[in-house]
Amino acid sequence: MQIVHLSDLHFSEAYFVPEIAESMLQSINQLDPDIVVITGDLTENGFSAEYDGVKKFIDRIACKDKVLVPGNHDSKNAGYIHFEDLFENRFSNRNLGGVTVVGVDSSQPDIDEGHLGRENYGWIKEAFSGQNFKIFALHHHLVPIPLSGRENSVLVDAGDVLDLLNRCKVNLVLCGHCHIPHVWNLNNMLVVNAGTFCSSKTRGKTTQCFNLIQAENENSDNNNWKVRVSRVFPQGKMELITKTVM
Ligand SMILES: [Fe+2]
Ligand SMILES: [Fe+2]
Repeated sequence: MQIVHLSDLHFSEAYFVPEIAESMLQSINQLDPDIVVITGDLTENGFSAEYDGVKKFIDRIACKDKVLVPGNHDSKNAGYIHFEDLFENRFSNRNLGGVTVVGVDSSQPDIDEGHLGRENYGWIKEAFSGQNFKIFALHHHLVPIPLSGRENSVLVDAGDVLDLLNRCKVNLVLCGHCHIPHVWNLNNMLVVNAGTFCSSKTRGKTTQCFNLIQAENENSDNNNWKVRVSRVFPQGKMELITKTVM
C-alpha cells in the first residue's frame, strides 16, 4: 500500500511555483498511490479564486481516495466556507481497504495557532477502535520539530491528543504547517511532517518535497506492519528517511 502525503501548496500568485507543482504532480501520478493525504494550507489567503485554482490542480492528481484537511491559511478570510463547498467536511473518517484515515481541522479562523478540542476526542477514539492501519491527519504540529523557531505551531491541546492517539494505537500521524520535513518515532507511532509541496515559502535550506509512505502487512493474521517513509523532491529524486516494523 502506498500513501502520498503532501502539504502547504499555498496556491496564490505570490508563492505557488507552477514548474515545481507540475514536476511533483508527474511524480505522484507515476507512483500511482492508493491514498493521497493533503494536510492543509492549500491556499495562501483562503480566497475563492485561490480555492478554485488549487481545486483544479488537485483534481489532476490521479487517485480516487484523497483525504484533505484545512490549514490556518485556508481558514483566513472565512475560507473554510470554500473548503467545505469544494472538498469535503473539515473533519472526516474514512475506511479505505484496511486503512482508517481520520482527518481533522486544527485551524481557527484568522488565528495561526492550532487546536483540536475535547469535543472531538470521543468520535476519534471510536473511529480508531478497529484493527486497521490507522492514520491521523492534521495541519498543525503534534510535537515540536527542529527549525520551526519559537514553538507556537504545536496544538494547544497537543498533550491530550498525543495521549489519545497513542492509546488508540495510531500508526501514522501526518502534519504540515512549518514547511519542515521531519519524522519522529514516538512509542511506535510515526509522526511525519511534510515540507511545502510547491510553494516558494521554504524555510532555511529545505526544499520542496512530499512524503511517500509504504506500508505492508507482514501477515494477514496479525496487525504488524512494515513501514517505510521516503521523501520525494522535484524531478523525482527520492530519499529513504526511515523504516520500521510496528
Ligand atoms: Fe504553510
Ligand atoms: Fe500553516
